[in-house]
Amino acid sequence: MKITFLGHASLQILIGETYILVDPFISGNPKAAHIEIDSLKADYILVTHAHFDHTKDVEAIAKRTNAIIVSNFEIVTHYQNKGFNVHPMNHGGSWEFDFGRVKYVNAVHTSSFEDGTYGGQPGGFVIEGEHKNIYIAGDTALTYDMKLIPMQTKLDLAILPIGDNFTMGIEDAIIASDFVECDKILGYHFDTFGYIEIDHDDAKRRFFEKDKDLMLLEIGASIEL
Ligand code: NI
Ligand code: MN
Repeated sequence: MKITFLGHASLQILIGETYILVDPFISGNPKAAHIEIDSLKADYILVTHAHFDHTKDVEAIAKRTNAIIVSNFEIVTHYQNKGFNVHPMNHGGSWEFDFGRVKYVNAVHTSSFEDGTYGGQPGGFVIEGEHKNIYIAGDTALTYDMKLIPMQTKLDLAILPIGDNFTMGIEDAIIASDFVECDKILGYHFDTFGYIEIDHDDAKRRFFEKDKDLMLLEIGASIEL
């Protein structure tokens, strides 16, 4: 499993031969200007919630790639009505895709499209593929529901928002990594806007002091699990 950070909360995950994009927000992010959005591969686009900083590029990429959009019922219906290929899910449900198993899990946040229409309840994803398991928290507060994840899935990586203000900050993300029982963390949802700028060295040190490894990737950089 190869995970590429595309800036903000956008990820590209390669499992076997399958490309999965998560929450594509690239054209709206000046920090990701070097990412060539027109050549990004996508077989699936996973959407955690409807906010513009997670959905801005969904339509353009889905139109070009014919990718299947996977999200909650309301978000998927929004795209289905526009003619896109979709797979509806909702909280607590899992599905065996050709690349692996995906579960849509709880997040504590809000979810509306840019025009204010309802985007269902926000979520995160647990993805199991190629014998590696990852948790993509989405935009969320620290929540006790995270404790349910390790009861069923031994995680290899937790991808957690750390930018504070709109989501968990560092302090709560450290506790979240305890809740999900995973000490290997990829931080996301930081630095894009003024509200969520963080001190990278301080963030890494605070995780390190709790015997945890916080990775912060440059936009466009990848890790292999
Ligand atoms: Ni959000
Ligand atoms: Mn967000």
